[in-house]
Formats: sequence, structure tokens, C-alpha cells
Amino acid sequence: MVIGAGQMGAGIAQVFAQTGFEVKLNDIAEQSLEKGIATIEKNLSRSVKKERITEQEKSDTINNLTTTTNIEDAKDRDLVIEAVVENMDVKTKVFSQLDEITPEHTILASNTSSLPITEIAAVTNRPEKVIGMHFMNPVPVMKLVEIIRGLATSDETYKTIEDATKSLNKTPVEVNDFPGFVSNRVLMPMINEAIYTVYEGVATPESVDEVMKLGMNHPMGPLTLADFIGLDTCLYIMEVLYEGFGDSKYRPCPLLRKYVKAGWLGRKTGRGFYVYD
Ligand code: CAA
Ligand code: NAD
Repeated sequence: MVIGAGQMGAGIAQVFAQTGFEVKLNDIAEQSLEKGIATIEKNLSRSVKKERITEQEKSDTINNLTTTTNIEDAKDRDLVIEAVVENMDVKTKVFSQLDEITPEHTILASNTSSLPITEIAAVTNRPEKVIGMHFMNPVPVMKLVEIIRGLATSDETYKTIEDATKSLNKTPVEVNDFPGFVSNRVLMPMINEAIYTVYEGVATPESVDEVMKLGMNHPMGPLTLADFIGLDTCLYIMEVLYEGFGDSKYRPCPLLRKYVKAGWLGRKTGRGFYVYD
């Protein structure tokens, strides 16, 4: 089961279903489930058009997917991957519910971008079966899965998740449980610094992105990428780094806070550093 049908949850459900796993996709909002399934169908149709998969593979994938707003439906699952909002209170609530609902053998994984796996695991009675399985956006395209062991995660749990990652044709990289892990400890300060350059009037968003795309060969400029990730998620991650390390170098840019307060969350709300249709 995948909990949360936003951009990450839908992508995670898609790659598991495409690999042949039977997947339940859960969200508190029916609308998110509908949007998630519509995105998956659009991705699969594009792959059929490009002759990467057949119509049969597309319908097999769709048939492997069901949706539910009832978390109790996790009761027959072997693996649950949580991909709800990047907030410790929301995540720990989901994990303590899952600990009650799922069988003893079930592995509970989190797709968190930055929050401590050890702390999430501590609200369950099975910390050895809790692990970070951090996919990258867009999930169907990106090869990396950062796997994070909490303090109590067992070798058996690690191995199962490593094997599952490989079966999805993705590459697992093991990292330890520190704020932001490796991916976002390195990426997010760059994005935050790019926002500071706009805030301080050094350059426009377009110019900052052009510098990084043409000068550093990044596929997307940092502000386009921030809009793509979601500015709320970027802010949550910076706050985790700032709090976790207590170092002023991680201070979230005030402009990032302002945009999030305004509801300018990037692509998903139609406006961030850029305006989308
Ligand atoms: N969902 C599914 N597939 C997508 C997609 C999406 N949202 N966006 C693009 N694609 C597919 C396209 O269909 C295309 O597939 P084909 O090869 O089959 O044609 C392929 O990706 C390439 O797309 P495009 O040619 O349209 O565009 P592009 O060459 O610019 O590539 C991109 C798009 C792969 C997204 C590229 O811009 C890129 O790599 N951007 C950076 C992404 C990145 O850094 N991700 C990590 C974010 S950080 C994170 O995820 C961690 C966190 O915790 C915040
Ligand atoms: P999103 O805002 O697109 O989706 C979150 C979804 O979770 C929404 O559909 C919401 O309705 C649902 N939700 C909220 N509370 C819930 C609950 N209690 N039960 C079930 N569903 C609930 O967010 P996203 O970008 O998909 O991010 C999800 C997680 O993945 C976050 O932890 C984020 O840090 C992480 N992540 C994000 C990215 C990225 O690029 N956006 C990359 C890697 C990891």
C-alpha cells in the first residue's frame, strides 16, 4: 500500500504496479486519488505511444491498482510506503495507525525527504521493520532510491527493501539517518541559495536558472526544480536541516517562507517562482 496519492505517492504506486505488484493507493482526499490515477494513466499512455510498453502492459498495470480512503485496508499488506506531507506529526500519526492495523511481518517505509527515520520508528512497536525508502521526483524516470536505516532497522528489513528497489529497476544507495540524508542536505541548500539570489536582487529567477542550466549542465534550473518539488516541501526540508544541525547556513530564505504563506507552492498550485497554466 502507498499512503498519500500526491506527486510522489502516485509515482511510487505506478512503478510498483508496473513491476507486477498488487498495490492499494490510499489518501485522505478522494480528489487526490482521482488526480493520482489520472496522472498514472497519462504516463502509461505516453509510454504506449512511444512504444516503450504495450496496451496489454498498460492495462495490467491499471489492474494492479486499487484506491481507498480507508487506511484500515492496510490490514493485508506486506509493505506500506508512506508519502504524505513532510510533517513529523502527520507522519507519526500515520505510522502509529499502521502499526495497529498491519500484520506483524509488515515493513513500514517512509518516503520522507528529510525527517529522522529513528523518530518515526519510535512511535511503533516494530522499529526494526521501519525504514526510509526515498524515491526521487519524477519517480517513473529517476533511477535513485536513497535507503535510510533508522537506529533499530534490521538487516533483514534493509535487504528486503534493497531487493524491492532493484526489482523496480532502480538503484539503491544506503545512507545513515541524519537530517536531509545525503540528497537533500546537498540539494536543498543550493535551492535555498538560489532563492536568496532572487531575494537580494542579484538576478531574476529566469537568469538564475539559465546560469545553472547552461553553466553547470543541470537539467532544470534550481528555481524551476523548486517549483517542481513544491515550495512547501522545500521549506519543510530547510526547516528540518536548520533545526537538526542548528547551523545558520541552513536558514530558510524569507522569500521562500513568504511564497509558502501566500499559497504559491509551485507547479501544484499553478504559481511559484513561475506561473503555470
Ligand atoms: N512524470 C513521468 N515522466 C516524466 C515526467 C513526470 N513528471 N516528466 C518527464 N517525464 C519523462 C518524459 O515523458 C520523457 O520520457 P521519455 O524518455 O520516455 O520520452 C523523459 O521523462 C524526459 O522528459 P522530457 O524530454 O520531457 O524533458 P527533460 O529531458 O527535460 O527531462 C526531467 C525531464 C527528467 C524531469 C529532467 O528535467 C530532470 O532530470 N530534472 C531534474 C529532476 C530532479 O532533480 N529530481 C530530483 C528532485 S529532488 C527529489 O526528488 C528529492 C526530494 O526529497 C525533494
Ligand atoms: P503532495 O503534496 O503532492 O502529496 C501529499 C498527499 O498526501 C496529498 O494528496 C494529501 O492529500 C495526502 N495526505 C496528507 N495527509 C494524509 C494522511 N494522513 N493520509 C493519507 N494521505 C494524506 O506531496 P509530495 O510531493 O508527493 O510529497 C510527499 C512526501 O514525499 C513528502 O514527505 C515529501 O517530502 C516526499 N518527497 C517529495 C519529493 C518531491 O519532489 N516533491 C521528492 C521525494 C520525496
